[in-house]
Amino acid sequence: MAYQNFNMDSHWLPFTPNRSFQKDPRVFVAADGMHFTTHDGRQVIDGISSLWCVGAGHNRREINEAIKKQLDTLDYSTAFNASNDKAFQAAERIAALAPGDLNKVLFCNSGSEAADTSLKVALAYHRARGEGQRNVFIGRERGYHGVGFGGMSVGGIPANRKAFGTALLPRVDHMRFIHDPLKTAYYNGEEPVWDEDLLAELENRILPLHDPSNVAAVIVEPVAGSAGWYVPPQGYLKRLREICDKHGILLIFDEVITGFGRMGTPFGADFYGVVPDMLNFAKCVTNGVIPLGGVICRQHVYDAVMDGSAKSPEHAIELFHGYTYSGHPVACAAALATLDVLRDENLFARAAQMGRVLGDAMHAALKDLPHVVSIRALGLAGAVELASLPGQPGKRAYDVFVECFHQGVLVRSAGDNLVLAPAYVVEPAQIEQMVGVLAAAVKKLA
Ligand SMILES: Cc1ncc(COP(=O)(O)O)c(C=O)c1O
Repeated sequence: MAYQNFNMDSHWLPFTPNRSFQKDPRVFVAADGMHFTTHDGRQVIDGISSLWCVGAGHNRREINEAIKKQLDTLDYSTAFNASNDKAFQAAERIAALAPGDLNKVLFCNSGSEAADTSLKVALAYHRARGEGQRNVFIGRERGYHGVGFGGMSVGGIPANRKAFGTALLPRVDHMRFIHDPLKTAYYNGEEPVWDEDLLAELENRILPLHDPSNVAAVIVEPVAGSAGWYVPPQGYLKRLREICDKHGILLIFDEVITGFGRMGTPFGADFYGVVPDMLNFAKCVTNGVIPLGGVICRQHVYDAVMDGSAKSPEHAIELFHGYTYSGHPVACAAALATLDVLRDENLFARAAQMGRVLGDAMHAALKDLPHVVSIRALGLAGAVELASLPGQPGKRAYDVFVECFHQGVLVRSAGDNLVLAPAYVVEPAQIEQMVGVLAAAVKKLA
């Protein structure tokens, strides 16, 4: 009999209501293609690419084989003062895929580490150029940049910050949230258009308050993923780029979710036609199979840090930062195989195509249901937002999530949003199934 002891004596689940989980455990024991097998032998379709990771679907033979081969060849090697061949190859491939002169890859292991890495590089960059006073970071309300102290500080999801307030970085500010529940609640395959200039606040209030000469970097997700798939207004990211350029401020895109195909393009930067100074990635780069993250820096960022060390002896380290597992050979082998699969199966284009199917299906099935206040679809992801139960924010969506799970579909609840973000290999009939189950659950719990 398979292991069934899910009493939680030893296991503390992250970002999970543990008490509720204990009463109704959701445990996976196998996965293939679009489906999981649960501990009690049921099939559950993965409607969220397992936290936006599994772009090419589960159990990809090519990726598994590459990992096994790498394990038998070079299992691990130190990351400091030496490297491995797969890290060089993976960096080359990732840099080649990234737009503009984003061409120096600094590896880490997760999106949280990528966030903190990029903030530290920003500080090092300014200091190297003689502008060490630039130490203010600007994020955005409802942004998510992981759970490290840096990422948490620039992040803007209140619940993630509430218990840790005294430990947040002091010199941080946040731009306004990019959603207008009255005017831009519904969109499908397009960028919302605002008649108001959402970035006037940055130019006219936030930057003057801190003085632009003190600001190190602005960090945003091109699309706010973890908060529930909120898309910026048309022209927002281009204008943000211009404002940063005007004031010598670095622009960091956190593409942990939008990177490697979710928008139907290699990166969100390609989708929006804006090249940031640093681009953070994780998740889909290895199809979620092995942890790997990184920051892709533009040439000038790297050059500044190197030039800053020009006067130090050649044996001196230029950037005092890195992780034991930066550029782990097995993770990099997985990344190389993943990039092959994404390219060979033309999966970015497929994500764009399936994104249209998903957006249409969500709008058709969900728009007129009780409590629905917003539906937002762009790229291969969509969210439906429900009015909160009075005094119980998040409960309505959580209950819908549980009901969907019992009906064989894994969706994601974020606040009172339900999000679908399937693998790029999803079939239209599977999208119909996911959306149908979601709609039935919303109706049932109305
Ligand atoms: C935009 C963004 N940044 C950072 C992170 C944190 O990544 P990780 O959980 O790998 O630390 C996430 C995770 O969902 C994310 O969506």
